[in-house]
Amino acid sequence: MLRLRPRIAARLTATPPVDDALFRQIEAWQGARPWGRMLDAGTGEHSLRWILGLSTTAWTAVTGDPGRHEDLQRAWGPRMRPADRLVTGNWTDPELLAGERYDTVLADYLLGALDGFSPYFQDRIFHRLRPHVAGRLYVVGLAPIDDEGGGEAGDIVRAIARLRDACILLAGHRCYREYPLDWVHRHLVAAGFRVIHRRRVPIVYGPRWIDGQLDVCLRKLPCFPDPDLAEATRRRVEELRRTARDACDRLGGLRFGHDWLVAAEPG
Ligand SMILES: C[S@@+](CC[C@H](N)C(=O)[O-])C[C@H]1O[C@@H](n2cnc3c(N)ncnc32)[C@H](O)[C@@H]1O
Repeated sequence: MLRLRPRIAARLTATPPVDDALFRQIEAWQGARPWGRMLDAGTGEHSLRWILGLSTTAWTAVTGDPGRHEDLQRAWGPRMRPADRLVTGNWTDPELLAGERYDTVLADYLLGALDGFSPYFQDRIFHRLRPHVAGRLYVVGLAPIDDEGGGEAGDIVRAIARLRDACILLAGHRCYREYPLDWVHRHLVAAGFRVIHRRRVPIVYGPRWIDGQLDVCLRKLPCFPDPDLAEATRRRVEELRRTARDACDRLGGLRFGHDWLVAAEPG
């Protein structure tokens, strides 16, 4: 399932070095500790681009999506060292990276995406990653969108997210499922980690996010079972795009919700 999320929408135009508040926080938490062998447990254009700029000794990047693997291979293959690896696999497979340990492990927006690749595995993912973490695990994610609050910006972000998810469901595909920081903290501890740092980072959604999410809706329309419903939804998408862009201009971005990030070590 293709779906642009807020930070990812902004990321697609980034050029190295990656300037991302969440990755900058991870770099600050990492301090002078060497990155060593690094695992990107849910890879994508942005996290891999960031890792390419770090002083790792080698990296392994895992995706559940062969199409993404091909895109990343095409984009970054020429910059890969002999020990760097792109791997397509599923964390539900006990053989995936069996016996391998990494100094640094990144799970960047992996948790929210699990529902598309391994539904109901969310409570197992940190147990699954635990034997691969020799040093530090960094987990990054998006908090679920609150059902109320946030004024006009909140109403618009909710309306876009609901329309996007409705379109994904009507197309017969699976939505992402996001989790809050406290859930993540609890499950890290249950999986045998100590939480060293945790932080929430407020989000300001911009025009790229608005267009990215609403374009997901448009891409789903051909899969709708009813052409009249698809046409009515197309009109709703464009109406919401106009309302959202106007509010975004007036308010200087849509301030609502937060990303979270956690640094953890085997306990
Ligand atoms: C939202 S994307 C990650 C974003 C990425 N870090 C970036 O730079 O934008 C989620 C990634 O996790 C992978 N993924 C999700 N569930 C998985 C699973 N069960 N096993 C392996 N990879 C999985 C997806 O295939 C994808 O590569």
